[in-house]
Amino acid sequence: MAYTIDLSNQVALVTGGIQGIGLGVCKTLACAGASIAVCDILSEDDPKTQKGIGDIKKAGDVKVFYIKKDLAAQEQCYEVIDVLIEEFGRLDIFVANAGITGKDNNWDAAYNVNVKSVYYCYEKAKQYLVQSQGRIVIMSTASVIRAVRVYRNISAPRAGLTRLRDTSPANARRLA
Ligand SMILES: NC(=O)c1ccc[n+]([C@@H]2O[C@H](COP(=O)([O-])OP(=O)(O)OC[C@H]3O[C@@H](n4cnc5c(N)ncnc54)[C@H](O)[C@@H]3O)[C@@H](O)[C@H]2O)c1
Repeated sequence: MAYTIDLSNQVALVTGGIQGIGLGVCKTLACAGASIAVCDILSEDDPKTQKGIGDIKKAGDVKVFYIKKDLAAQEQCYEVIDVLIEEFGRLDIFVANAGITGKDNNWDAAYNVNVKSVYYCYEKAKQYLVQSQGRIVIMSTASVIRAVRVYRNISAPRAGLTRLRDTSPANARRLA
């Protein structure tokens, strides 16, 4: 069944959006007319960044703005929202997609990126999402409900993220 969604005049932030699933999300939102703020850890002149930005622009004739931040750092989570608001003045859709698989037993990194970054970005973004009656989409993983031993570093933090979502006053809905 064909359908269309009109997101023109809306601003979307996608973390970890320069490749993989996040890039697909950016392209879909751009196709629907949303302006896109992409946050990722890669430098602006990295070929992957350039390719990602190019792909999003091809998907929709919309403004695409790249914000380089390391979301493992609390301050940088706040900064991404500040930079976004300075550029666009509003936020309607926040897709918390950045994540690391963390097979290397680095639990601090796994928790910083896969759980804490979502909370810190949300903490700063919520006032703008309330203003716009916006939405938050949080990427999780099926290994939260079906244990996969090799992915313990992502399953355990993301299980915590599920509870964080459930206890959020913003009443975020799980979409992935
Ligand atoms: N691919 C899968 O099969 C799968 C399965 C379950 C869940 N997921 C989840 O979906 C999301 C996207 O997965 P993917 O496969 O596209 O991953 P990916 O590795 O292709 O993309 C993740 C992106 O996050 C960015 N990123 C990593 N650390 C960051 C940091 N500290 N600050 C800012 N950006 C950072 C990376 O640079 C990358 O662009 C992740 O949250 C992942 O946990 C993926």
